[in-house]
Amino acid sequence: MATNRDKKTVSREVGLEIGSICGQYFLELDHLHYGYWTPDLEVKIANVGKAQNNYVKFLLSHIPDGVKTILDVGCGSGHTTKELLALGYKVDCVSPSHFLAEKTKKLVGDRVEMFECFYEDIETDKKYDLVLFSESFQYMKVDQALQKTCDLLNPNGRMLISDIFKKDVPNVYKISGGHSISKFEESLSHFPFKLLEEVDITNYTAPNIDLISDMSEKVVQPVIVLVEKFLDSRAPFTSKCVKWIFRKKIAKIEKKYSSNTKTGENFKKCKVYKLMLFKKTN
Ligand SMILES: C[S@@+](CC[C@H](N)C(=O)[O-])C[C@H]1O[C@@H](n2cnc3c(N)ncnc32)[C@H](O)[C@@H]1O
Repeated sequence: MATNRDKKTVSREVGLEIGSICGQYFLELDHLHYGYWTPDLEVKIANVGKAQNNYVKFLLSHIPDGVKTILDVGCGSGHTTKELLALGYKVDCVSPSHFLAEKTKKLVGDRVEMFECFYEDIETDKKYDLVLFSESFQYMKVDQALQKTCDLLNPNGRMLISDIFKKDVPNVYKISGGHSISKFEESLSHFPFKLLEEVDITNYTAPNIDLISDMSEKVVQPVIVLVEKFLDSRAPFTSKCVKWIFRKKIAKIEKKYSSNTKTGENFKKCKVYKLMLFKKTN
């Protein structure tokens, strides 16, 4: 049973689950991560699937030789897991979301052991050659995740993190996601990991922010306005009460989504998207 739960964590998980359902239904998207936009790929919604597949290709190309067993932490809908299995790796998964764990099991069957819990809470005697965090590290408690990874890796095992981090600049652009890169590096210095490889893919992932903003402006916001209009006309009293009760939350959401600062260019100014491969040194 998952512990460590707080309201923010639950809403994040629900957000990812909704993202998975909508992405799959409307755009036939298998994955839950950003796309990797190569210069030849036009940045448009119809190409998100291709960009996501580019990302998986990029990620898999950085798994070092000699790795046989992998723990896929925060496996999402299981499509990366499936590709890892197809390449011959022995894979286990961690998913705190029952919905996503079931989706993964349906896709890969009993070829993986599914740890349906937060990574920080996992309990097993198993050890792995590689612990993989594909856009899941940002959701972890850094020190706990690093300690768990040390415990779960074989001697000389590898940790592969591919994720967004915050640069040390004021958060004026309201783009969410990622741990502070300097705090992460500080935490990391207390653990026995040696950096083997680092690739900055910020420029290739920034276009995702332009697409998300465009969709928010052209679809999400107009739908919210229409729903509000509908409720105001059909149930004015209830609508007024709901708006009053949630006035602070609504103001926060309006502020967050009305700003036009969420662009790929601003993402590059305040975030860095990195793939980092580490070796456990003891
Ligand atoms: C953005 S999705 C990425 C999914 C997948 N790795 C991919 O690349 O498509 C983030 C994933 O992290 C998982 N996650 C969030 N917090 C977690 C935690 N504390 N422990 C393990 N997984 C977590 C979510 O359930 C979700 O599957």
